[in-house]
Amino acid sequence: MKLLRSPFKLKIFLSAALIMCCFSANAESVDVDAAKGLAKQNNCFRCHGVDKDKDGPAWNKIAAKFKADPKGEEKLLHHLTSGETAKFSDGHEEAHMILKSDDAKATKNLVDWILSL
Ligand code: HEC
Repeated sequence: MKLLRSPFKLKIFLSAALIMCCFSANAESVDVDAAKGLAKQNNCFRCHGVDKDKDGPAWNKIAAKFKADPKGEEKLLHHLTSGETAKFSDGHEEAHMILKSDDAKATKNLVDWILSL
């Protein structure tokens, strides 16, 4: 490729590739182990399976519902921090449990993981 024969252009090309690579990695990287650990600590799996309905809907179904929503992440963060009303499979309603985490990044990581399912 003629472009890559010029050292200057090659440098620009490589920097651009590196920048693109880092940005996309940042946007999408989810720490799956940390997310599962936080969910386990909070007993979320008592009512949710990754792909199995329990008292609450399977998380991959929730992901399917919110993935395309530009406000999906925001809505799920609100859901997990506000104790809004949750409708259970047997029809009764009660306040959804509030996620216990003293780290906003870890909370966001859990929401991003659920959305990635
Ligand atoms: C006692 C049972 C129970 C526990 C424990 C529980 N959930 Fe839920 N969750 C539900 C039910 C029921 C719904 C369905 C709410 C609805 O559709 O109204 C739900 C809905 C959700 C939703 C979708 C919200 C929406 O707006 O559709 C997410 C995300 C979620 N739960 C995450 C979690 C996380 C993370 C934990 C652990 C901190 C957790 N849940 C713990 C019962 C539970």
